[in-house]
Amino acid sequence: MTRLLPWGEDLWIVDGPVVNFFGFRYPTRMAAIRLSGGKLFIWSPVRLDGELKEEIDALGAVAHLVSPNKLHHLSLRQWKEAYPSAQLHAPPGLAKKRRDIRFDATLGNEAPSDWAGEIDQLCFGGSPAMAEIVFFHRKSRTALFCDLIEHLPRGWFTGWRGLVARLDGIVEPDFGAPREWRMTFLDRKLARLALGRILDWHPGQVVIAHGDGVRADGEAFIRRAFRWLA
Ligand SMILES: [Fe+2]
Repeated sequence: MTRLLPWGEDLWIVDGPVVNFFGFRYPTRMAAIRLSGGKLFIWSPVRLDGELKEEIDALGAVAHLVSPNKLHHLSLRQWKEAYPSAQLHAPPGLAKKRRDIRFDATLGNEAPSDWAGEIDQLCFGGSPAMAEIVFFHRKSRTALFCDLIEHLPRGWFTGWRGLVARLDGIVEPDFGAPREWRMTFLDRKLARLALGRILDWHPGQVVIAHGDGVRADGEAFIRRAFRWLA
């Protein structure tokens, strides 16, 4: 069974297992981007099994393992063990949280030379709770959001969890960052600056880690997801 789903030129997504986060079931998704030299940039890696590894190896050499925020670290160690020469990139706050992992680099507002010119990035700040690195793959005109946009199908959560998730603003027809995180963006000016930079990329597609992204009209999708910041 093919796990990799082509999502544009040199971009693939993979749906991972459902994970439990404080009692809530979340679908997971990663992305693999093939850089011009043939090396692979792995975004938000999901659990690696033999089948997935075979498919990834057929794409290219895994060179970069990227957790876009401090919550998406669960499979990093497993990937690093499978690909010891790959570089581990830490988002703000993760190196402190996972002292058992040795990171090779820290992610910030500018793309490092490894992928500059092919993948743009910025640090979406403004909240003391968490910062997230947002990426833009130029070739496929795709923006990649981790937890800043969550978009789960109606009925994904049931019972009281369904109600909580709906109030949290992450279930169709609503979507975006979980409401308790939105409320921590005290520096809204900084957050709006980041959003403006993202919209300047003019994304056509959007990949998200939890739920459905879009294949077209990415800018409109992003604007809707960030209405809370207007
Ligand atoms: Fe997440």
